[in-house]
Amino acid sequence: MTRLARVSFAFLGVVAGTGFVAGAYAGSAGYGLGRLAHGEEIAAWNTDVRADGQGLPAGSGSVLRGEEIYFESCASCHGDFGEAVGRFPALAGGEGSLSDEDPVKTVGSYWPYLTGVFDYIGRTMPYGDARSFSSDDLYAITAYILYLNDLVDEDYMLSAQNFLENSLPNEGNFFLDDRAITELPLFSGEPCMRACKEGVEITSRAELLDITPGTN
Ligand code: HEC
Repeated sequence: MTRLARVSFAFLGVVAGTGFVAGAYAGSAGYGLGRLAHGEEIAAWNTDVRADGQGLPAGSGSVLRGEEIYFESCASCHGDFGEAVGRFPALAGGEGSLSDEDPVKTVGSYWPYLTGVFDYIGRTMPYGDARSFSSDDLYAITAYILYLNDLVDEDYMLSAQNFLENSLPNEGNFFLDDRAITELPLFSGEPCMRACKEGVEITSRAELLDITPGTN
């Protein structure tokens, strides 16, 4: 046995003797800090929903229920019809605008998968009170956003069972990352490190562009 190993066994003995849970340390190499996460703790964070539907929780929600939640918790920023208030993002509209100079990227015009919408809202919204919705609420809100984008009728009920029947209009325009072939060669040459540009001119400032939404 090496000297190092003897020292760490002695350390474990001390930890056990003082009433710590030695088992939590014994399995991990390294510095013996922290503890293993409990199954419940991992489950609470392991909420990602993937494009193939893996991770969707049991539940369902109707467009009409979603409308109620939306008016209460979302419309103040995203607009009654998802058209956006001020500089908050729009959630509906924008069809056919993606090739414009100023594209309007919404769930209906831009997002590839409805699972991403469900996952995103569950993690982040409403802004400032994230992770406060039940699974049923999330199905209802997602159903309402489909309705705002004219993708379902007002009597639609979205559930774990029929979720993948809904595809978003822009899905086909996404493709697998090909940058290793298309872009890497462009940036793999000898970099320019000196006198690469004649001069730098500041043309505008973020403050003047009004990039951040106001607070009132
Ligand atoms: C206080 C304002 C506010 C409220 C209320 C709010 N949001 Fe948001 N929402 C935002 C902001 C700001 C962003 C952009 C966040 C970012 O890009 O990091 C956003 C982004 C989003 C997006 C992504 C938009 C995109 O295409 O990039 C969705 C979807 C969304 N919100 C849904 C909701 C839903 C559903 C509710 C109600 C349950 C809600 N939001 C409530 C402010 C708000």
